[in-house]
Amino acid sequence: MTVPLLEIRNLSVEFGPVSRPLRVVDSVSFSMRAGEALGVVGESGSGKSMTALSILRLLPEPPARVSGEVYFNGRDLMRLPKRDMPAVRGKEIGMIFQEPMSSLNPLITIGDQIDEAIMLHEPMSAVERRERVIALLRLVGMPDPVSRLGAYPDQFSGGMRQRVMAAMAMACTPQLLIADEPTTALDVTI
Ligand SMILES: Nc1ncnc2c1ncn2[C@@H]1O[C@H](COP(=O)(O)OP(=O)(O)OP(=O)(O)O)[C@@H](O)[C@H]1O
Ligand SMILES: [Mg+2]
Repeated sequence: MTVPLLEIRNLSVEFGPVSRPLRVVDSVSFSMRAGEALGVVGESGSGKSMTALSILRLLPEPPARVSGEVYFNGRDLMRLPKRDMPAVRGKEIGMIFQEPMSSLNPLITIGDQIDEAIMLHEPMSAVERRERVIALLRLVGMPDPVSRLGAYPDQFSGGMRQRVMAAMAMACTPQLLIADEPTTALDVTI
């Protein structure tokens, strides 16, 4: 038996005073193996994004209080020193954030932002990385990717920004891809 790719046990997120906590994620547990896909469904405000952000330890603590265990390939990410998390984010686990408008840097070109995601984790030359960026943009269905490398996020439509987010999340071929409403800004045919 191999260990699950991701196993979550009793993940809870609380805000507010300890004496009167506001529990926005309440003892979530699930397990996934490599190659599996899991969909999380729930009404607005039910804690889907909080769950996703907790897995990568992206929730600011405080004000949030996150408890439980998040085993990734058998290693509990919650017990990992904080300084080891950047090596996991992007490289081992990719995340497509819910808000493409606010998750992209408005001052950096699309090409450079995707390139940065690769540069952080992969020992590749600038020429190789450029090829990877173009291939990623093609993969997510960006029309005419080569001519878009030098464009800034505000020159893109919502759907195009969403594609850029997907390209960044997949830039280092992570073992696990967390997608928080990745198709909100796309039309249904994609
Ligand atoms: N800083 C905070 N302090 C207190 N409560 C918060 C804070 N941030 C988020 N919440 C609450 O956490 C709950 C879960 O939010 P979350 O964003 O995970 O919902 P969601 O399921 O992703 O919803 P949606 O479908 O709208 O994206 C919400 O009720 C929200 O009000
Ligand atoms: Mg959400």
